Amino acid sequence: MPIHIPEEKLSEIRNTANITDIISERVVLKKAGKDHVGLCPFHSEKTPSFTVSPAKQIFHCFGCGAGGDVFSFLMKHEGINFFEAVQSLARRYGIALPEQNMSVSQKKAVSLRQQLFDLNRQVMSYYAGQLAGRSSGQKCRTYLEKRGFSQEIIMQFGLGFAPDGWDNLVRFFRKLNISKALAESTGLVVPRENSGFYDRFRNRVMFPIFDVTNQIIGFGGRVFDDSKPKYLNSPETPIYHKSRSLYGAQAAKNKARETGCVYIVEGYFDLLALHQHGVTNTVATLGTSLTAEHISVLRRGFAQKAFLVFDSDEAGLKAARRSIPLFMNAAMDAAVIVLPKGYDPDSFIFEFGRGAFEKESENAVGMVEFLIEFSIKSNGLSMEGKVRVIADLQQPLLEIKDNVARSIYVKYLSERLSVDENAIIEKIKSGKKRLNQVLPNNWLKHNNDEPSLSENDLLIESEMIRVEKQIVSMMLKSPEILPEIKKRRVLDYFSDKRLIEIANIVLKHPIYADEDLPGLMNRFESLDHRNMIASLAISEGCRDLNICEQLLSQFMNGIQRRQSTLVSQIKSAQESNDEELLFELLRKKQEQSVNRLR
Ligand code: CTP
Ligand code: MN
Repeated sequence: MPIHIPEEKLSEIRNTANITDIISERVVLKKAGKDHVGLCPFHSEKTPSFTVSPAKQIFHCFGCGAGGDVFSFLMKHEGINFFEAVQSLARRYGIALPEQNMSVSQKKAVSLRQQLFDLNRQVMSYYAGQLAGRSSGQKCRTYLEKRGFSQEIIMQFGLGFAPDGWDNLVRFFRKLNISKALAESTGLVVPRENSGFYDRFRNRVMFPIFDVTNQIIGFGGRVFDDSKPKYLNSPETPIYHKSRSLYGAQAAKNKARETGCVYIVEGYFDLLALHQHGVTNTVATLGTSLTAEHISVLRRGFAQKAFLVFDSDEAGLKAARRSIPLFMNAAMDAAVIVLPKGYDPDSFIFEFGRGAFEKESENAVGMVEFLIEFSIKSNGLSMEGKVRVIADLQQPLLEIKDNVARSIYVKYLSERLSVDENAIIEKIKSGKKRLNQVLPNNWLKHNNDEPSLSENDLLIESEMIRVEKQIVSMMLKSPEILPEIKKRRVLDYFSDKRLIEIANIVLKHPIYADEDLPGLMNRFESLDHRNMIASLAISEGCRDLNICEQLLSQFMNGIQRRQSTLVSQIKSAQESNDEELLFELLRKKQEQSVNRLR
């Protein structure tokens, strides 16, 4: 699709939108001679080889070779096409694009993204208006007041109120003459079964979610009482990706850059409370655990050091275990702050103030130290206790790829427990085999040359069911993925009967809200099924559509590999005349095809 925007226009935009400004919104740049350098956003690196030249208005990475002008940067960074990149800069800087040069489809492509940004902003104003409305917003104003939030913070973060009722926003969209397709793409209205839409957010405090350039990418909403779900977020849309977005990023960036550190909290109100008390270098995850993408965004664009703030040991522990390798890989320092029992960042700072909060961060310890100390606290330092501590730390230490870092932690552990370093190292190494066997991808890499049915196969079998569980859990949490499941006929390849039955029902009766779960359970008489549904619904299912799709692809690839393994195993069993094995293998093969017919 050639785009006929005259070169003069492009260079006008290029010159107005200084490349250094645009990139430094997303990457921390330091001046180096006449250029600027920073950590490349397009590959993983620990020392800056990403260079921006204001004179040439280009960027280049000496590490991965990425390079181009401001348009290429945006295309690559935001995953948008050339026209969208041009358009978004033109709009931002008030430069008119020559319309006669655009084809119909290009004009229409006034891109979906751009339309969504615009519409989201109107929605923010709508909700804010409802909040300000004399009678309609009273309840919500009182709620925010009671929680201690100031008018300034409410304004700064554009908070609003989604009134009760099924079609307030629907009618607002109608008034604006918004097409059905666009309305649906916002994720703010949900198609009804027959026709029409209903409001996703009803009777909630609304939090617009901004990206670092202050565009509104989605919304979150909280109820006023104990009803469930307490929080609701926009679904994934072309402009909203939970695994990448951080609430408050736009307001946190400057202070984070100044201070070199950023606080990461879990909740909307936690974030607002910290900002209101001046701890403005704070971001919040949005109902997901911290992903590698979040960390990468923070490390490159915000600060070198992160403080993860948690309201309980358990939460901190879980997060530390999971995210140690992520922080290590991104070369980002991370420490854990666990607040006193019963407090979350919101209640803590309102009660004790900023000074006390900052004192907590002075006492924060690195993640590995946190794990070690926690384990010592719960296992004690008896001989048995020490053995358990080392066992506890085995996997986290194994996941640390950096040898120097690992040996520092081993030394710390050895001193702390008075156990010989070498003994600890031996123990860690011994975990390597076991770890490989439980790593999620392992069964996909199953060795094709291994002809006999072995323990390995059993492991693969149970690994398959594990993945099947992940898939069904994802189907429960992200109904958006269901069409893909149908299309790829994923369930045909499942091996677990119970999961197949549950998944088939979910396909017919998707779960759009937590309230729908009991209904699903009630379709099954067997307790087994009900238990399974509960465990799947509670487990951490993936909500990010991209990751969901990856999981599906991995599963399907694994199936293919498994099938070709089986075929080659059968061949070699035939060749070696091993009848017993052959029989077993053929039985297996038949089982697989029966599943597929079901
Ligand atoms: N969250 C979510 N969906 C839920 C529950 C929580 O997305 N059903 C996310 C929200 O971002 C929320 C955060 O997890 O802010 C923390 O949740 P929680 O600890 O339950 O609530 P608080 O943030 O303490 O909220 P509040 O103080 O309003 O009770
Ligand atoms: Mn809270």
